[in-house]
Amino acid sequence: MKHKVLVVGGGGRCHAIVDALSRSPKVGKIYCAPGNAGIAAQAECVPLKDTQVVELRDFALAEGIDLTVVGPEAALAAGITDEFNKAGLRIFGPSKAAATIESSKDFAKRLMAKYNVPTAAFRTFEDYGEAAEYVKAGTFPVVLKYDGLAAGKGVVIAGDLAGAEAALKDMLLDDKFGKGRVVVEEYLTGPEFSFMCFVDGADVWPMTVSQDHKRAFDGDKGPNTGGMGAYSPVPLITDEDLEYSLEKIMKPVAAGMVAEGCPFKGVLYGGLMKTPAGIKVIEFNCRFGDPETEVVLPRLKTDIYDVFSAVVDGTPMPELEWSSDAALGFVLASEGYPGQYEKGHAIHGLDDAEALGNIRIYHMGTAMKDGGYVTAGGRVLMVVGFGDGLKAAQTHALKAVECIRCDNLFYRKDIGWRVL
Ligand code: AMP
Ligand code: GLY
Repeated sequence: MKHKVLVVGGGGRCHAIVDALSRSPKVGKIYCAPGNAGIAAQAECVPLKDTQVVELRDFALAEGIDLTVVGPEAALAAGITDEFNKAGLRIFGPSKAAATIESSKDFAKRLMAKYNVPTAAFRTFEDYGEAAEYVKAGTFPVVLKYDGLAAGKGVVIAGDLAGAEAALKDMLLDDKFGKGRVVVEEYLTGPEFSFMCFVDGADVWPMTVSQDHKRAFDGDKGPNTGGMGAYSPVPLITDEDLEYSLEKIMKPVAAGMVAEGCPFKGVLYGGLMKTPAGIKVIEFNCRFGDPETEVVLPRLKTDIYDVFSAVVDGTPMPELEWSSDAALGFVLASEGYPGQYEKGHAIHGLDDAEALGNIRIYHMGTAMKDGGYVTAGGRVLMVVGFGDGLKAAQTHALKAVECIRCDNLFYRKDIGWRVL
């Protein structure tokens, strides 16, 4: 019998998860809550928000959902996994306690310090005056991180004291992201990469590595975003680097979570940096990365239903096999993103783009209006190209991007610049 699966979330990451599940011969019907207009072509969208955990649980019970897979951190931080487990439902994603590794920067930093995992030096502050004094005595640039979920916007790299004071004021005096603390961190340099692993307690299975592009504009300029493009694999990360990252970072952290009484089950995402002093952790996330998932999961040849089941049930993990094709994707975002932007602009040319072949289009924020797609978010589409090598993947993706017409979208043209 084929299984009924529910995917929670509605961005490009969830589109890629739905897409991967739809390749499994074991999966029958796929639901996605809330999904989006593009996901609706592959799954039945359910009008529930990702944080409506009780309603989602009731939906899963009523529909006889066999497996639920959670995309966004907000649902995990809201305790969706605990709620589903209490009801005897199978769900892929960490408990609320384990999700703290992402929702609290301070928790993550203390965990790393305790288990000797390499990361930037840090101190945590609640008081504006003390934080400002500490920053004043240190060197610049300095990194200031709000200690909580801030949709990728809670990190400020301040080049001077005035900038640091302004950011600390936002975070500690004006409570821009809510009442909270700030982690003040040493500034590190080097290429970043995303190392996502399937984790079940102390057991860790690495995925192929990818690289995000966080700044809004070409040349890594402009404000930080959720991510403007990604590619996989990442040639500047060697096998030795991966071995180190697995043995000295991901495995000790997974074991540390077990020792702390909050074992992690799900995808542990290491945001790592290859610094002149070795690989260090920039951040952990408790879920698949977005847009990394859109270039990683299409390369997974193993049946993803079996992979999720192995983690959920604690049964043997099948060997993870990856396509030798490279993947590289461009995010098309609304003008103004990550700041204010308009919605509702018509999108044309998606069929022409798809017809070129060697690409996938993942919908990040679209809606359907009068029978056509319109923009409905900051990040709107991700166009991923595949090919023999990153250059070929980039060429395929760019050709497809050029077919897409919309009067309110922009994209970074230099995705992959570090390696191409
Ligand atoms: P985070 O949300 O912690 O990943 O931070 C967002 C971005 O800020 C990262 O992807 C880095 O580019 C940058 N960043 C964070 N921490 C540091 C650091 N200690 N040194 C340099 N850059 C950092
Ligand atoms: N692309 C970074 C993230 O998912 O947090």
